[in-house]
Amino acid sequence: MTPRHFLTLKDLSKKEFKKILERAAELKQAQHKGVIYQPFIGKVMAMIFEKSSTRTRVSFETGMAQLGGNALFLSPNDTQLGRGEPIEDSARVISSMVDIVMMRTFSQQSIENFAAYSSVPVINALTDDHHPCQLLADMQTYIEHRGSIQGKRVVWVGDGNNMCQSYMHAAEMLDFELLIACPKGFEPCSTLLNQLSSHVTLVRDPTVAISGANLVATDAWASMGQESESELRKKAFSGFQVNEAAMGLAAADALFMHCLPAYRGLEISETIMESQWSVVWSEAENRLHSQKALIELLLK
Ligand code: CP
Ligand code: NVA
Repeated sequence: MTPRHFLTLKDLSKKEFKKILERAAELKQAQHKGVIYQPFIGKVMAMIFEKSSTRTRVSFETGMAQLGGNALFLSPNDTQLGRGEPIEDSARVISSMVDIVMMRTFSQQSIENFAAYSSVPVINALTDDHHPCQLLADMQTYIEHRGSIQGKRVVWVGDGNNMCQSYMHAAEMLDFELLIACPKGFEPCSTLLNQLSSHVTLVRDPTVAISGANLVATDAWASMGQESESELRKKAFSGFQVNEAAMGLAAADALFMHCLPAYRGLEISETIMESQWSVVWSEAENRLHSQKALIELLLK
């Protein structure tokens, strides 16, 4: 049987996406009440990280433990992947021993190749193009604080990066309006923009975009792998900082999100994460609960 993968949000139906969000809320409540729920005793997740991580590693490893299973941390420094063993060979070997794999890597093509040769489900834990797990948490967080996101105005400020592109998928799937305010030359993929034009619009001026927004989200100006462009990006993105003045233009009930790690003084002001708009800490915690719901869907 071909395994079920989660390489972008589009690997879920709209119904499944909503179901995961509902289940994530239930799992969060149960966890907070101290309920023991271990449907996956004896199951093992391989976690392949070719880039750094705090939230993703801690949430998947903890999530598997809470569900009764185990997780293995595999970095290229300690595996043969880092010495050039082909991804297709690694996928066949690793998946023959574990029950599920999560992978954080550079190109989307790499994870697609891995998935094509894997006999168990593969989860995208961030590539250069997408970060679908973060969107599960972001959407759970919006709903938790404000109810349904359908019909709301969401604004992405900054780089048209992996997070932005996963927001684009979410906009179409959960039926909200997404405005993207990014500098020239830092747009998301044009094919995706065209495909999703019913829900996604490019607006150059961040203040215009943020006016009346229900949710404002941003991310680092230089993603992992773009460290050498940091200085160039600082210049290109000046004027794209999310700060108190910008959030003051948003709707009265607006929320602020950032997938983290955040760089105070660059893409955000020093204090916005502690402001009345910010839900970044529940957003981070919800990585745990929403991914447990995802694991349940893929393993059951
Ligand atoms: N938001 C997120 O994916 O964080 P990490 O890079 O710490 O996993
Ligand atoms: N866009 C960021 C997200 C980090 C979670 C990156 O790829 O580095």
